[in-house]
Amino acid sequence: GVEELEQRVQHVKHHMGSRLFLPGHHYQKEEVIQFADVRGDSLKLAQLSASQHEAEAIVFLGVHFMAETADILTREDQHVYLPDMRAGCSMADMANINQTEKAWTKLMEKFDDTILPLTYVNSTAAIKAFVGKHGGATVTSSNAAGMIKWAFTQKERILFLPDQHLGRNTAYDLGIPLEQMAVWDPILEELIHEVPLEDVKVILWKGHCSVHENFTVTNVHQVREDYPDMKIIVHPECSREVVALSDEAGSTNYIIKAIENAPPGSAWAIGTEMNLVNRIIQEHPEQHIISLNPRMCPCLTMNRIDLPHLAWSLESIADGQPQNLIKVKPEMALDAKKALDRMLERP
Ligand code: 13P
Ligand code: SF4
Repeated sequence: GVEELEQRVQHVKHHMGSRLFLPGHHYQKEEVIQFADVRGDSLKLAQLSASQHEAEAIVFLGVHFMAETADILTREDQHVYLPDMRAGCSMADMANINQTEKAWTKLMEKFDDTILPLTYVNSTAAIKAFVGKHGGATVTSSNAAGMIKWAFTQKERILFLPDQHLGRNTAYDLGIPLEQMAVWDPILEELIHEVPLEDVKVILWKGHCSVHENFTVTNVHQVREDYPDMKIIVHPECSREVVALSDEAGSTNYIIKAIENAPPGSAWAIGTEMNLVNRIIQEHPEQHIISLNPRMCPCLTMNRIDLPHLAWSLESIADGQPQNLIKVKPEMALDAKKALDRMLERP
């Protein structure tokens, strides 16, 4: 039963002490996040993993790309594990390295050497390595604006992978007109653009988050009709139309802070992952909070990390037969680290 599984997790945690570190992403289920040593967004968790000098084993309560990032940023003798290898990310899977190499060749033909690649951390280590090798950097939803500004000090235009929505929303906030943003379709291998090529400033990879695309303009209109005084706050992985109609948009941390700092009695509709929205509702009984989409939107791959997998994974480590090691190839890790470091070095 659940109690027995919880005891098994506690037992390994107690037995291993500071040799074991469990970072947990805000989108994780309650049954596993309760055991996290720290909670955070993907950036904070990567940074914290890298500063756990005593940890021999890092068991990541999150998805595959986060565990890869932790591996890239930790020492050789520290090992990162993912309790279920099927915990991937559909957005990260929307940009594979072959498609990206092909796109780059075609874009270089069109634009010469005027493009800097940027990638959202929600991407595979291979994409981070590609970006690192070409002088670019990673970004997160909390520092995307600063990183795009920096990119324009390096080159005339950017290629933003793999989330078109974070790229479009952030570039728009920086004053870049929508028509100067083109979209690269990796399936058709085609650039969709409205203005002449020389006027294109931003090339958006045609990828998206399958969780955040479930928040729609219809949901926004419904909330406005049902609760005229309610504020709408969404993650920038939502579409441009949804963000434009909302009151506020920001990263996971931004949303958490906005609710914490709001006066009691405030009313909010939140457009982000279900486990986080439910947790915010529980933690803020003094406010009226609903999900922007009443059907709630879980991230199915985040949810693959469950209590049975966690107990199994921890016991495999304690027994000296560790399973599900996440190990990025050294050469790839080196290039990916360049992209991550260019971001981490910036305030
Ligand atoms: P952040 O953790 O950067 O807010 O990203 C949200 C997300 O979709 C994580 O998978
Ligand atoms: Fe990927 Fe979206 Fe799930 Fe985050 S919420 S892991 S971006 S599918």
